[in-house]
Amino acid sequence: MKIYIDSSDIKEIKEINKTQLVDGITTNPSLIAKQNKDIKVILKEICKEIKGPVSAEVTATQAKQMIEEAKVLQKISKNIVIKLPLTFEGLKACSHLTKKGYKTNVTLCFSVTQALLAAKAGATYISPFVGRLDDIGESGIELIKDIRKVFDNYKDLKTKILSASVRNAEHVKEVAKAGSDIVTIPPKVFHELYKHGLTDKGLKIFLEDWNKTNQKIS
Ligand code: E4P
Repeated sequence: MKIYIDSSDIKEIKEINKTQLVDGITTNPSLIAKQNKDIKVILKEICKEIKGPVSAEVTATQAKQMIEEAKVLQKISKNIVIKLPLTFEGLKACSHLTKKGYKTNVTLCFSVTQALLAAKAGATYISPFVGRLDDIGESGIELIKDIRKVFDNYKDLKTKILSASVRNAEHVKEVAKAGSDIVTIPPKVFHELYKHGLTDKGLKIFLEDWNKTNQKIS
């Protein structure tokens, strides 16, 4: 499963990218707004650091304007993926941009039928929001499982499942078990993925024993 970081903060992105485990980045208008910087500057910095796909979201609500914004965003870098909302207008824009050769990420997906339509519109990625479904008492993980099942039924659907709105390590484990192609995670959740109390405890004991030997590896 590929790992994307869900952030517009270049410092956080650079820090995590030192692990060489970052396959791509997703941004959204709320994450961009947090940075208090021009969207093009933010995206340019991110694309310089990350060579994999970087999702940049349109903010227009009508297909015609979404397509105009897509042209502007695409010019920033060739690894930009155009993020479109899962609306009637977003689907129209997705079909159009697909035919023109753009890569797209259809976002704000909360149902299997939405995912199916986005896939038929040629979306490169579909972003089902796990945490926001859990927030309203539904199961985000069940949605990922269901979309996986439907996409596997129709081999002509090439859209990748990009699990989004992931809130914790448990979500990451569950979407991986469900066969998600990609997960996008906030930096805080990335740092939860490698931590374990027994790792810390074990390392402490190893180092205490080692220090008793007065040896140095050199
Ligand atoms: C997806 O691409 C979104 O940027 C993101 O995952 C939304 O997450 P949230 O529900 O935690 O805001």
